[in-house]
Amino acid sequence: MKKVNIGLLGFGNVGAGTYETLYMNKSHIEKEAKVDIQVKKILVNSLDKPRLVEAPQELFTTNADDILLDKDIDIVVEVLGGVEPAASYMKKALENGKHVVTANKAAAADQFEDLVSLAEKNKLTIKFEGCVAGGIPILNAITTVLKANQFDEILGILNGTTNYILTKMADEGLSYDNVLKDAQEKGFAEADPTADVDGIDAANKLSLLMALSMGKYVHPSQIPTVGIRNVTLEDIEKAQQDNKTIKLIAEAKIKDGQLDYSVKPMALDNEHPLARVKNEFNAVFVKGNAVDELMFYGRGAGSLPTGSAVAGDVLRTAQIIASHRR
Ligand SMILES: NC(=O)c1ccc[n+]([C@@H]2O[C@H](COP(=O)([O-])OP(=O)(O)OC[C@H]3O[C@@H](n4cnc5c(N)ncnc54)[C@H](OP(=O)(O)O)[C@@H]3O)[C@@H](O)[C@H]2O)c1
Repeated sequence: MKKVNIGLLGFGNVGAGTYETLYMNKSHIEKEAKVDIQVKKILVNSLDKPRLVEAPQELFTTNADDILLDKDIDIVVEVLGGVEPAASYMKKALENGKHVVTANKAAAADQFEDLVSLAEKNKLTIKFEGCVAGGIPILNAITTVLKANQFDEILGILNGTTNYILTKMADEGLSYDNVLKDAQEKGFAEADPTADVDGIDAANKLSLLMALSMGKYVHPSQIPTVGIRNVTLEDIEKAQQDNKTIKLIAEAKIKDGQLDYSVKPMALDNEHPLARVKNEFNAVFVKGNAVDELMFYGRGAGSLPTGSAVAGDVLRTAQIIASHRR
């Protein structure tokens, strides 16, 4: 069987989950792709760190060029986090003939147009499924089976940390500060929660969703964004009295031919399907002009759910490579 070699940039939560998915389901994936998929090298910061998943020590490197310049590597999977050096590494991979798969929404949303045009210029693919709502296959759905629609509305709960905090505040009457502390202790929130609680992470995801479903790229910094820091228990109780639930909503809507977009806390009617999405779960509600209303629900983060999305993109990319080699 022909081989497709993968270079993994990063072996943290998502890198390890991707590796685990690829090897746990290796025979199934190879049967589907009709190629032997091998992880050839893994870039990390530290060679001594204990890892979530075991991988042969000789795969690890601290030199990105061992992957980006390796002629035998076909697909670069970027799961480092942050805009740089991740974006530059993805560009270097594309310039060196490698397809790219990423779950890094910060880098992908910041440099979306450059990355996509570089991929097109070099007749390569770049795939983003893990960037938006973790394990939920929303990007693949809107770019394949739903492609014949025009979308005039997207509403998403795209950040698990903030949905967990708002759920605990509403269901247990706890203050924002207390829930955040508890979420940090349980590992649901980062030590520095800024990107989550200030809505930046959701804005990155909305930027990618709009670009891929509505054909309109808006840099995340241009999306009006309000997080949940100032949502009080009083706000939540007031909403409950009105049969509403406060959620952090990423919204893109076409009104009178104009695209409006924002990330902000909204009081949704309790009947709205997004109002019932609890804890760390994510959901995306879309309205297409043929399919009408659809909702996607699932785990928006986590090592294996996100690894599933990334490995799915790897499998699809390997199928494309295999079809070109025939
Ligand atoms: N965690 C999730 O559930 C989730 C879900 C969806 C998307 N994402 C996105 O996926 C990406 C990865 O997230 P994660 O949670 O897996 O992060 P993480 O656990 O912090 O892992 C990052 C990995 O990248 C390596 N790394 C970072 N910067 C590097 C550099 N400059 N040079 C070499 N290695 C470097 C780290 O090496 P060391 O291990 O040696 O430090 C680590 O293995 C992020 O963009 C995140 O937003 C995460």
